[in-house]
Amino acid sequence: MDFEALRAREAAHFLPVVNRHPLALVEGRGARVRDSEGREYVDLTSGWGVTSIGHCHPALVEALHEQAGTLMQTTNLFYTLPQLDLIDRLAALSPAGLTRSFLTNCGTEAVEGALKLASRATGRAGFVATLGAFHGRTLGALAINGSEKHREPYAALLHEARHVPFGDLAAMREAVDDSTAAVIVEPIQGESGVNVPPDGYLAGLRELCDEKGCLFIADEVQTGIGRTGRLFAVEHEGVTPDVMTLGKGLGGGFPVAAFLTTEAVADTVQIGDHGTTFGGNPLGCCAADTVLRVVEEEKLVARSEELGGRLHAHLQAFADAHPERVSGARGRGLFQGLPLRDAERAGALALRAIEAGVLVNLAAGTVLRVFPALNIPEDDLFPALDRVLALIAD
Ligand SMILES: Cc1ncc(COP(=O)(O)O)c(C=O)c1O
Repeated sequence: MDFEALRAREAAHFLPVVNRHPLALVEGRGARVRDSEGREYVDLTSGWGVTSIGHCHPALVEALHEQAGTLMQTTNLFYTLPQLDLIDRLAALSPAGLTRSFLTNCGTEAVEGALKLASRATGRAGFVATLGAFHGRTLGALAINGSEKHREPYAALLHEARHVPFGDLAAMREAVDDSTAAVIVEPIQGESGVNVPPDGYLAGLRELCDEKGCLFIADEVQTGIGRTGRLFAVEHEGVTPDVMTLGKGLGGGFPVAAFLTTEAVADTVQIGDHGTTFGGNPLGCCAADTVLRVVEEEKLVARSEELGGRLHAHLQAFADAHPERVSGARGRGLFQGLPLRDAERAGALALRAIEAGVLVNLAAGTVLRVFPALNIPEDDLFPALDRVLALIAD
């Protein structure tokens, strides 16, 4: 397939809001993908944190194939077996107390649901979020995004929210008041550069929210499903939020997401408060249930912790050897960031890495974010990473 012909087709008809890399991907297996001209790449982004168990894991392909031939969609007025299996599994695996879930199609919708729930449960409408946070692009989620770049063009449409520095408990304490429905944070900020908060931050937020009578929402869309070396990142501090959102890696490549909550919060909603046509459809639920099963069977959470630890050490060793190029590595599990000092070089890195046969992402433009499939073979991970590090050192 001629890539230029594909590019011309998109230029004619796609809404021009995405600056794509110059390649079309046609196939994926495990941690590798192939483009329309037959070149192969190691994917260190797992499709942006989504293909948690690798591209086209055989168990996922088989389960979806079977489910697609059985039942794909009903209205949400009916019970379906895949949804029952998934909500049972989510309740069993989630931090104790998060026993109620609602399924959505993407992370943003899960965040929207979480915001509505907080407003319903508290009778309040204020939200406090963090600078640099990314929670999605619909109007509700955009209002709590902590990046001016995303909010500013739509400012007139947005509900007001407060933003405080991430990791700063004192600033959060100042911002939360009796109009606050919820505090929402990513346990580790993803889009703004794999920012890990100080120890005790999540536990401190939990305490603060209890004291102020507002909800604590943990947006685990990016950090959930083993990414950080725990099934959910809040487990690093043994914290149970009032609402937890999931997405991305939950479906392993199939669009499915969820928000989970407690019995106490669930008791505040009424029939008709929320709904969806596609959310929780049998295919999505089958995908998520299969991913969670594979993560458990293949012990991918422990692998994320162990391999992630070695990945971190590898990146840190590079940072120690090249202090003029990068500052120290940061992250947990298979969710690591390496900040580059030179924005211009960082801007060119993704394309240079593509030429070297590796897909990488630069979060916030300058932080090399390494978030591969949880089951990426070591023989793919380290050699591919070393090719990228050589480009940075060059
Ligand atoms: C923490 C977090 N929340 C929400 C979202 C939005 O998810 P989606 O793009 O599936 O709507 C993202 C996407 O990057 C995210 O990282």
